[in-house]
Amino acid sequence: MRFFTSHAKIHALYMVYINTNLTQYTKYNNVMSENIIAIASDHGGFELKQILSQYLHDNGWKAQDLGAFGKEAVDYPDSAAELAKWLSFNQDKKGILICGSGIGMSIAANRFRGVRAALCHDGLSASLARKHNDANVLCLGARLIGTETAKDCLFHFLNSEFEGGRHAVRVDKLSNFSKRK
Ligand code: RB5
Repeated sequence: MRFFTSHAKIHALYMVYINTNLTQYTKYNNVMSENIIAIASDHGGFELKQILSQYLHDNGWKAQDLGAFGKEAVDYPDSAAELAKWLSFNQDKKGILICGSGIGMSIAANRFRGVRAALCHDGLSASLARKHNDANVLCLGARLIGTETAKDCLFHFLNSEFEGGRHAVRVDKLSNFSKRK
């Protein structure tokens, strides 16, 4: 009898484990959708996140909104970590991070393996971030740039391709840094 009780407990724990992992997998893994991009902000970037999510929708993209979900204060490292986690499940995809200045988000995001986050202030920097740095995360400072400039940054980020060649050698060196102690 005792054997069956403990066996049932182990089974229940195992099911909780499987369900937790499944929930994480389905929350973060969206490989089936080609045109998906993750977007996250803190309270300082919340309004711009809503505007850019609509912009993405209007332009045929699916925006995976990872929060913030309101204007209550949240810490930008937590939002950046959420997005980095999503990217780790969707390695060929890109993300957008928005805070007041964009600075905190870019510092936080670049601490995660595989993330190349670029803080951009205009279309040219967003385009160069893709062409030369193969940036996979666009960081924006909602309190520093206007809505139209933010849309322009996003447009160029989405529509510019990595040029490879000499830039690939340099980007590879960045990946090697994350293996250093
Ligand atoms: C929040 O007030 C603000 O510090 C944050 O949004 C960001 O600008 C940090 O870098």
